[in-house]
Formats: sequence, C-alpha cells, structure tokens
Amino acid sequence: MNSVVVVHGGGASSISKDRKERVRLGIIQAATTGYNILKEGGSAVDAVEGAVIVLENDPEFNAGCGSVLNVNGEVEMDASIMSGEGLSSGAVSAVRCIANPIKLARLVMEKTPHCFLTGQGAAEFAAAMGMPTVPGEQLVTERNVKRLEKEKQEKDAQKPDQQKNLGTVGAVALDSKGNVAYATSTGGIVNKMVGRVGDTPCIGSGGYADNDIGAISTTGHGESILKVNLARLTLFHIEQGKTLEEAADMSLGYMKSKLKGLGGVILVNKAGDWAVKWTSASMPWAAAKDGKLHSGIELDDTNVIDLP
Ligand code: GLY
Ligand code: GLY
Repeated sequence: MNSVVVVHGGGASSISKDRKERVRLGIIQAATTGYNILKEGGSAVDAVEGAVIVLENDPEFNAGCGSVLNVNGEVEMDASIMSGEGLSSGAVSAVRCIANPIKLARLVMEKTPHCFLTGQGAAEFAAAMGMPTVPGEQLVTERNVKRLEKEKQEKDAQKPDQQKNLGTVGAVALDSKGNVAYATSTGGIVNKMVGRVGDTPCIGSGGYADNDIGAISTTGHGESILKVNLARLTLFHIEQGKTLEEAADMSLGYMKSKLKGLGGVILVNKAGDWAVKWTSASMPWAAAKDGKLHSGIELDDTNVIDLP
C-alpha cells in the first residue's frame, strides 16, 4: 500500500511544556486514525475527514471544541475539504454550535451544487442534513476564555498579530487508488471580529488538492495566507518542477518576506512523497506511511515509531 496520511495541529508561537505531551498524543491519534481508514479501504477524502474530526474533538487544538474565541467570547469556525479527483470541494465559514465543521464542509461538497456556504445558510443546511447542534458553550474551553482575556489586556503590546495567531488543524492523504485530498479546520484568530473569515475555508489558501500535483493543508496567519494564496502558490512551484520541500520553502519564504506572515504546510503527492515545513516557532505534525509513524513539534525533534 502506497498510502500516506500527514496531519498538522497548527503553527504556534510556543507550546508550553505541560501541553506538549497532550498535543503529541492528539496529533499521533489523528494520523493513526486517518491511516487506519486508508488501510481498511477508505478514500483519501475519508482519511482526511477522519483525521480532522479527531483534532476537532480534542480541546488542545484550535478547531471544533478548543476553538479560540471571537471578540464577544463566542466560537465561530471555518473549514474546507477537497478531493484531488475532479477538484471537488466544499467549505463552510463562520459556523457556530456544531461539533465538526469538517463534516459540514464535506456535505457541501457532496450534497450541494456549490463549493462554499457561510453563516446562516450553512446553519440551515446543517439542520436540513440532520446534523445535531451543540450548545455554543460546549465548544468553549477554560484555556480559551483565559486566552481571550489575556489578548484583550495585551492588545497592541508585544508581537505583531501575524506572528502569534497561528492555529488551525489539517490533514492531507494519498489513497491506494492514487487519489489525494486535503481537509483544514479552525476556530480562526483569538479576539477576531464577529464574521471574520480566514484562509481556512478558502480553496487555494487553506488548502488545495489536484491528483496531478498533490495535496496541501496550510496553517498560520490567515490574512497573510489569503493574500499569497499559500496553498495554490506552493502547488504552482511543484508544477514548475520543484520538490515538495523546495516549493514549501519558496512559498512560506515569500509570505514571510512580503508580509512578515508566519505559517506552515503539509504536503503529499501521488508518488507518496510527503513534506512538512513551517516558519512559525513550532508546528505539531505526524505522518503515517509504510507502517511507520513520524511525528514532531519543533525543528529537529522528529520521532519515528512502528504503527500497530
Ligand atoms: N462568479 C459568481 C459566482 O459564481 O458566484
Ligand atoms: N489560519 C487560521 C486563521 O487565520 O483563521
């Protein structure tokens, strides 16, 4: 089986020591879940959705339960998914009160003639699809309440916005039929305006998948990623003959030099090559291939273990 799954848990300025082990376990669980889906004959789309659901359900990550809070202390989430077979794609933005926005993005892809639903329309579509709502407070964690308070106190101090607000979760996969896919999901940026939409649900910024080139999921400062179309830009460099690593370095380097924007990417192609790159201080990631699971959080801390 040539299948691969790669996941990320968001670019981050720093991850405290006490969170590191929980973050590592969460990212490994997501990659293992995606890989098992492929092993059991699931598609690349099934695998990226399954991996992202694990991260949306894990309060350590900025997506689903664990999303950062907007200026009013509420959770508003963005997500997108794409199949490299035929460029099918689905996205939702500014959704509230659902546990797994990535499931809704997949339903947009598969059950509507559209690519992208937002706000009220997305909520009505979720209800029509029988997706249960959850009380908004159920997605709010104590850590994010404190983060919002701190952000409001520190506003304008310390680091510029594009160097600290970096969380997202995502996955890319290649299945045994040679199809690639990506999924990306986020709560966005802490203290964001109500209705702010980031890069994550925007095809070409939050991710892209084309069987002829590969699949990519991005993380980092949303406004910077949108301005450079980070996902499609990276794949453009691959189309021009660059390796996955070279392409990622070029596009992340461009975003940093143009905008001082930091972020990260995960990539896979139909040959089964994969890459992880980031310019933020850290980016939890894991990759499963050939029965091995590779993972890391910071530079030079890669672990490799056998998958069960
Ligand atoms: N170009 C207009 C639309 O498709 O919404
Ligand atoms: N990259 C996540 C966001 O800015 O919303």
